[in-house]
Amino acid sequence: METPKKEIVLSGIRSTGNLHLGNYYGALRKFVSIQNDYDCNFFIADLHALTTNPDPTQLHASVKSVLAEYLAAGINPEKATIFIQSDIPEIPQMYLLLNMHVGIGELMRTASFKDKARKALGLKTPENDTDENFEHEIIGAETNKRVNAGLLTYPTLMAVDILIQKATKVPVGKDQLQHLELTRRFARRFNSFYGVDLFPEPTDFDFGGAPVKVPGLDGSGKMGKSEGNCLYLIDDPKVLRKKVMRATTDEGPQAPNSPMSEPVANLFTLLELTSTPDVVKHFRDAYADCSIRYGDLKKQLAEDIVAVTNPIRERINDILANEDYLRRVVRDGAERARARASETLSEMRQIMGIHSL
Ligand code: TYM
Repeated sequence: METPKKEIVLSGIRSTGNLHLGNYYGALRKFVSIQNDYDCNFFIADLHALTTNPDPTQLHASVKSVLAEYLAAGINPEKATIFIQSDIPEIPQMYLLLNMHVGIGELMRTASFKDKARKALGLKTPENDTDENFEHEIIGAETNKRVNAGLLTYPTLMAVDILIQKATKVPVGKDQLQHLELTRRFARRFNSFYGVDLFPEPTDFDFGGAPVKVPGLDGSGKMGKSEGNCLYLIDDPKVLRKKVMRATTDEGPQAPNSPMSEPVANLFTLLELTSTPDVVKHFRDAYADCSIRYGDLKKQLAEDIVAVTNPIRERINDILANEDYLRRVVRDGAERARARASETLSEMRQIMGIHSL
């Protein structure tokens, strides 16, 4: 009897620097946990990294470090296909074709675009944010700074990464769900415009819990590189302890069972990710009866984080030293990823009427 085909999973991380705990819990750890059971494809999104115009030397170094971090966290190249986005020339080709079916309006309304465009122009989000005032801000911006077209079409490129492999499951953190929604919309639109059934509609990978959003330690909503509030997998234990001990808190609960302020709730979110349920319960009880000492909570949290990151950090340094191995992994990965990508691209070209005479 033929063994049933495994479902295709695909996800990527941009090469914009070292990976942090947000990337780890939002993406990387999930990648590792499913690699035995699915046809897994994990890549380094260096073309997406170009949207913020990085320094070329740093971009190149980042591709290598993210690759080492993938491997150190436990992604096994014998089980999963690991590749670099720019090694697949079919991706930019399909990006051009798919863009013909994507509206600039829907791209401009994407939350991540609004965010990044404002950042690029040095603007703050107004209190009463509307799509109209946003368009005015961007198109009529009185500044010599620019919002590049690559940033606008970021979701097209992400949809291409997914659709070119015909992936149906995409493990990502909460911040990427809107891009996934757009990918489904583009797939549906293409299929229905040409009356074909080329693209399956991908969904988030359902791990049974709520989508993960790892908070920062500065009381802000999200851990992110541009937020400057990251705990990196490569951070030395000393550095990690220092960062955790400096985390923002408040004056402590003033009455039993009082609601938690955002910075303190964030510490608990991190504790829930890195610690055991009994430790979490101990500190929750202490918060509820006002006996909590934030210093103790931070010390515990720092040790639990170090226990997660330290073995990974040690492996990262070993793997980075083995250039031949790194090259072999991505060469093999690109070969496998290109096989499926070129098949999808030629189907798409045929459907759209782009083929040689
Ligand atoms: P990037 O590099 O911004 O993020 C990579 C992954 O890390 C997750 N993540 C978080 N999860 C929880 N809490 C956080 N604080 C946090 N910060 C980051 C992100 O949700 C993401 O899963 N556009 C993608 C890269 C990409 C991609 C794709 C992903 C390009 N093409 C195709 C899936 C499929 C991104 O944002 O990467």
